[in-house]
Amino acid sequence: MPGITFEDRVAVVTGAGNGLGRSHALLLASLGARVVVNDLGGATTGGGRDASVAQQVVSEIEAAGGVAVANGDSVGEGEKIVECALDSFGRIDIVINNAGILRDRSLHKMSDEDWDQVYDVHLKGAFKVSRAAFVRMRDANYGRFVMTTSAAGLYGNFGQANYSACKLALHGLAQTIAIEGKKKGIQANTIAPIAASRMMGTVMDEKEMERLDPTAVSPLVAWLCHEDCDASGELFEVGAGWVSNVRWERSQGQYFKPGHFTPDDVFESWSAIRDFTESTHPTDTVDTIRAMRRNPYQDKGE
Ligand code: NAI
Repeated sequence: MPGITFEDRVAVVTGAGNGLGRSHALLLASLGARVVVNDLGGATTGGGRDASVAQQVVSEIEAAGGVAVANGDSVGEGEKIVECALDSFGRIDIVINNAGILRDRSLHKMSDEDWDQVYDVHLKGAFKVSRAAFVRMRDANYGRFVMTTSAAGLYGNFGQANYSACKLALHGLAQTIAIEGKKKGIQANTIAPIAASRMMGTVMDEKEMERLDPTAVSPLVAWLCHEDCDASGELFEVGAGWVSNVRWERSQGQYFKPGHFTPDDVFESWSAIRDFTESTHPTDTVDTIRAMRRNPYQDKGE
């Protein structure tokens, strides 16, 4: 198989002026993709705007012989970013939803503004860019999406109720795009990266920072964007040169007679409900319905 290249492909990378997005944009461009480098050029907490941030990455790409265009729109106006790809390069094949901000505060102190700003960038922004691109990809019978979640989204993190809620929701978005896009050659996957960036702060020593360079995440992203990649609706943890696939795990569970079981029955079966020794790995809603239908106490036809 030839090396992975992206000749004739057009990619949008949001939040590509810094950190992970910049690294993804540089890698895709070096492999032949024409790239829309989107970045509002704001602060980590969301304020401000600076058009030179995206332009700087475009200059780096061009200096290395690649092709890119800068776009300074907010992901909140996702359709404009997709229009930029169409106006500049006539098509859109790849969307990497990466733009992000932080407004950390523990739940009891979190304001509506803290919630809304994080939601607007991470989740609504990804929705706006993805919807606009999806329409075009359907017509073209081809598309690749990568969403950027976080360990904070998968497992929760103190002070990040807004961020973790939106981050996990992004995987929900990817899973549904994977389903709705399947017949149209459109795939969507999610990464949960760890990388040293301005968002991560500088709590680590230099060696650790080196290991956590964003370039140790981008190879997975590029592969997920490639036409030969067969994954869709999947989730990957990645960072410091480690790439791993994450999935749901379900215990066999316990069956009760519908309408005839009590909290005491649940209490008595508590360890059995949470026993993962013969676990399964459900992948769709039909799995859930099937598991419920296997209830031996349920009357036939009920
Ligand atoms: P970063 O702060 O270096 O880069 C984020 C970029 O998004 C910035 O350049 C910023 O200007 C841009 N941006 C913010 N709001 C925007 C908007 N409305 N429209 C367009 N661009 C906007 O952060 P980093 O670390 O590179 O993060 C990239 C993504 O990875 C984020 O979604 C973040 O939540 C996620 N992530 C990062 C982790 C890490 O360890 N660095 C861990 C888990 C997730």
